[in-house]
Amino acid sequence: MTTHDDQNRPMTARPSAGLRGRMQVPGDKSISHRAVMLGALAIGETTISGLLEAGDVLRTVHAMAALGARLERHRDGAWHITGCGVGGFVEPPGPIDFGNSGTGVRLAAGLVATTPVKVIFTGDESLSRRPMGRVIEPLEQFGAAIATAPGGRLPMRVTGAAHPVPVTWELPVPSAQVKSALLLAGLNAPGETTVIEPVPTRDHTEKMLRAFGAGIEEERTPEGRRITLRGHKELSPCDLTVPGDPSSAAFPLAAALICPNSEVTVKGMLLNPTRTGLIETLHEMGADITIANPRASGGEIVGDVTARTSALRGVTVPAARAPAMIDEYPILAVLAAFAEGVTRMEGLAELRVKESDRIAATAAGLAACGVEVKTGDDWMEVTGRGGEVRGGGPIATHLDHRIAMSFLVLGLAAEEPVTVDDGAVIATSFPQFAERMRALGADIEPTEEAREG
Ligand code: S3P
Repeated sequence: MTTHDDQNRPMTARPSAGLRGRMQVPGDKSISHRAVMLGALAIGETTISGLLEAGDVLRTVHAMAALGARLERHRDGAWHITGCGVGGFVEPPGPIDFGNSGTGVRLAAGLVATTPVKVIFTGDESLSRRPMGRVIEPLEQFGAAIATAPGGRLPMRVTGAAHPVPVTWELPVPSAQVKSALLLAGLNAPGETTVIEPVPTRDHTEKMLRAFGAGIEEERTPEGRRITLRGHKELSPCDLTVPGDPSSAAFPLAAALICPNSEVTVKGMLLNPTRTGLIETLHEMGADITIANPRASGGEIVGDVTARTSALRGVTVPAARAPAMIDEYPILAVLAAFAEGVTRMEGLAELRVKESDRIAATAAGLAACGVEVKTGDDWMEVTGRGGEVRGGGPIATHLDHRIAMSFLVLGLAAEEPVTVDDGAVIATSFPQFAERMRALGADIEPTEEAREG
């Protein structure tokens, strides 16, 4: 399956004003991965509406099929998954390629670590640079044997434990992926698997495990959140609706803030507080963002979020907020470039190991657009230009969908167009991005088709 061909397809954004409209963004990527994985383990048929049908999640769909689950998309767009039962995965016929998806590969490693199957995981150039040690170390404690390329990189061979033992693990870095890998491994281990997270991260795995009937409990302790999962309990299938992804919504909302005379509403956006750090930060920056109709949906809270053109001011974003907006720093840095004053972002060490080194990629892109940026190991400081950003590029996306979308948004509000070297990579999380942005009035086109300007 190809989700991103080898050919870079440049894309250009040109100055645009008057972005207007109400839109939906695709389903949340984190929740989509988990829904497919737990559906693949449950006994019986799980139905998922609003699944994100983008490169990363489709990789997970293929992976679960290779491990023995049955997955079908019906005409109405809903996915129906018949699972194998906890411990019921079969050995796949060949390597499983997770493409660009760190979440997919790390969670799947957890899923197979406690089942006696041998699985080889591969990925694209970006994923093959990312560290797997953070999941390998705890998964080996369950009894899995894991071999990788030098430096704990893909390809990675996981030989699941035939007689797994439960694990207690305190997360050394705040990572929902590592937490989730452990909890998923714990499903097929006897006794209690415990994860302690000193800094809270997104809690979709815990919420969804509960919805599927897993034996999971949470407790707040002086060391942080303590999550305990009782293993060897079958999962019951669920009917799930995936809420709109706040990490995708960030792009149209950001564009509305910096393009003149704009007002954009994203309907049905996930408002889980472990994901809304960007909204909190933007409110502090003076953004006109309002939330209407908060309501429960699929065990989560969603709402309709409206952003209007705003004069932004620089702020300091504390390190403690990083997990709640970890994927939103590139677009925040773009917004900071349009603000009045300096924006300082702290606690960003994890950005170095995302789809790209996002501190380096964001800083290089901003510099190419005439914006002053300073960076350190785990911080970034953007000097706002009070609304007047030059633009330009070309911007190197480094196989990173969020770098591509962030700089296209910059190009909508800059003085000169912005070209990103690869627009195709956006399909990993938001395949309809350009089309939906155009429907709001944004001028974003593949570069060869862009108007002479
Ligand atoms: C994710 C967790 C985050 C995030 C990623 C999705 C998840 O990674 O950056 O895009 O679905 O669990 P970490 O948990 O490694 O920080």
